[in-house]
Amino acid sequence: MAKFQFPAGFDFGVATSAFQIEGAWNEDGKGPSIWDTFGHTPGKVHLDIPGDRGADHYHRVKEDVALLRQIGVTSYRFSLSWSRLLPAGRGPVNQAGVDFYSQLIDELLAAGIQPNVTLYHWDLPQALEDQGGWINRDVVGAFADYAELAFQSYGDRVRRWATLNEPISIWVGYAMGVFAPGRSDEKTARQALHHALVSHGMGVEAFRASGHAGEIGAVFDIWQRHPATDKPEDLAIADRDEDDGFRFFLDPVLKGDYSERIRRRLTERGTMPEIRDGDLKLISTPIDYLGLNVYSRVVVSAEHYNPRWWVADDKHPGGNFLDNGMEYYPKAVYDAVFMAKEQYGWQGPIFITENGAADGPNVTDPLDDQERINYVAGFLEWIHKAIEDGADVRGYYLWSLMDNYEWAAGYSQKFGIVHLDTETMARTTKASAKWYAEVIRRRGL
Ligand code: BGC
Repeated sequence: MAKFQFPAGFDFGVATSAFQIEGAWNEDGKGPSIWDTFGHTPGKVHLDIPGDRGADHYHRVKEDVALLRQIGVTSYRFSLSWSRLLPAGRGPVNQAGVDFYSQLIDELLAAGIQPNVTLYHWDLPQALEDQGGWINRDVVGAFADYAELAFQSYGDRVRRWATLNEPISIWVGYAMGVFAPGRSDEKTARQALHHALVSHGMGVEAFRASGHAGEIGAVFDIWQRHPATDKPEDLAIADRDEDDGFRFFLDPVLKGDYSERIRRRLTERGTMPEIRDGDLKLISTPIDYLGLNVYSRVVVSAEHYNPRWWVADDKHPGGNFLDNGMEYYPKAVYDAVFMAKEQYGWQGPIFITENGAADGPNVTDPLDDQERINYVAGFLEWIHKAIEDGADVRGYYLWSLMDNYEWAAGYSQKFGIVHLDTETMARTTKASAKWYAEVIRRRGL
């Protein structure tokens, strides 16, 4: 019996996303996504190396499923590339794309691994972006059709779905200019976020209408803000940043409306999105589970406000740092779970849909990733405690199966428990993969 024994039926998984691993960006009829365009635009991604090859997963499905089987995961979370299925975002279907995921799903099921499929993990079809992307309300209908195609094609075999992964990414892409498509306008970005939420609601409705068995949810990343002191200015920053970070999404999805505080501030800034009749009802269509991505917390102070909040340093409050500069605060996962329960009254199942750490810059032997092992172990212990304390956490997905293309950071950030040689695309298991396999075998640690 392990010291931290997880309940029978608890899923131990790993997660990836289409753009980050597939490669084959223009093969077999796939249309470009905003991340293909962004990566090919000088000055946008690390070393100007685009994600064309990802981790070459498109050509290595069997090998990657064999890896998953070797690690022993019970579930695998991945996303579909919208423009592989619908090269123009809507309209004609690319049969080769449909077949690709169909084969992956069959391979997974044959290996005894449950697929967990995310519809949108940041790679909007470029053809839709050319028509305004998430800013153009028409995207909602396009998303609903895309969702319907996915349910029709795979709903007979996939039992766990998510509509969106981390809709905040749309803010980073439309207001901050740091992610694709590289726009920088707060007002239209808020509208884009609202459209993404309405699309989520349409996706849930389409799933119910498909009549398929299974569960559908959405995935939000939770970086709770802890004020450094109880000074009002620190508390105010914590509230504001949580509103922007995750409450803008959780409030309408779980409570049926944007909060008064959010409405007031956005109205003052002139960035409150236009909401049509019925939108809030759609957005709050009941979901079956809540997906939470949790990596850490953020300590905020007015005196030392850190705009690069995801990286702490010795001037900015936080505490003990990982080699990669991020604070190590595994209790964040416990706090996130109870925040959903206590502040949103969420009673349903929760999956920790992502958690993991990148190697620091000084790693000497990337295969001997003890720091990653310690990081994950700490989070699993806190998840275990959350379950003991009454939380309904049903599974954990480690980010990520293998080193891959980390968005604007390109190949510079390595999150895998499997090492990727970016020249040959060869995979080699790291110490963490072996350790995780043992955790899964014992159902605990
Ligand atoms: C995203 C992943 C990303 C990971 C590590 C998450 O926010 O969903 O796509 O690779 O964080 O940065």
